[in-house]
Amino acid sequence: MQLSGMSSIQSLGPSRLFWRVGSAIVLLALGIIGIDFLLTVYGNYHQLDPAAYAMFWARRGWLWTHLAGGALTIILGLIQFLTQWPRAYSRLHRWTGRVYMTSMLIACVGATGLIATSPAPFAIRAAFAATALAWLTTALIGVIAIRGRRVPSHRRWMVRNYLVTLAPITFRALIKVPGMMELAPPPVMIPILLWLSWLLPLLICEGGYRIVDRAGLRPSNSFKPKPLRGSA
Ligand code: HEM
Repeated sequence: MQLSGMSSIQSLGPSRLFWRVGSAIVLLALGIIGIDFLLTVYGNYHQLDPAAYAMFWARRGWLWTHLAGGALTIILGLIQFLTQWPRAYSRLHRWTGRVYMTSMLIACVGATGLIATSPAPFAIRAAFAATALAWLTTALIGVIAIRGRRVPSHRRWMVRNYLVTLAPITFRALIKVPGMMELAPPPVMIPILLWLSWLLPLLICEGGYRIVDRAGLRPSNSFKPKPLRGSA
């Protein structure tokens, strides 16, 4: 068992080994951060209490819709990245992908209801709307890419999409940066941080892709989609 494990590790080239180990570390970190965020959300809203819901009490229907879809996207997104390579998972990957997209649409319906009923200033509502647009756009381009059987492009657009999924987690992290909220009053800082919560990860990701492309460190493309129903 151990020997075959060693030989399979040795058979990986340095570039693939780099990708496997790097991906495993990133996914583990994301899993821990994502579960911690969802436990906090559950802690805040599991009790039907107007005090705990604060400004969301009157709009709890939209919040629940949003949270149901949003929580699923965080969990299913992780499963998608765990099952992206091996051929054995291709059916699971397709079905999880469909449920992920449906969950995202449900979360967006909830987000639209929350934006429409929010007493927050226009700049904050506009920042949320831009986030929703980025979420839908990256998913749409990712779906178009896989329907055109462009696997590397699909993979990159779904990574971008998941970075937008993680925007509420990034937002909370940015708010907690010491001194951040003292830079300007909350009506100015909150919309800025809402924009940064997805633009910053996307910019860092694009920087990473540039480096990978220039250094020729692309991961191997072992996952080949089966022909789509009705296609040649
Ligand atoms: C990425 C696209 C997303 C958009 C555009 C979005 C939009 C919104 C909006 C408009 C609100 C209400 C804000 C207000 O009325 O002041 C909200 C609240 C909230 N959203 Fe999202 N959201 C997104 C993703 C997610 C995800 C993936 C989750 C995960 C569960 C999530 C969890 C929450 C929570 C917990 C709240 C309540 C406020 C809080 O306790 O922090 N959101 N979101």
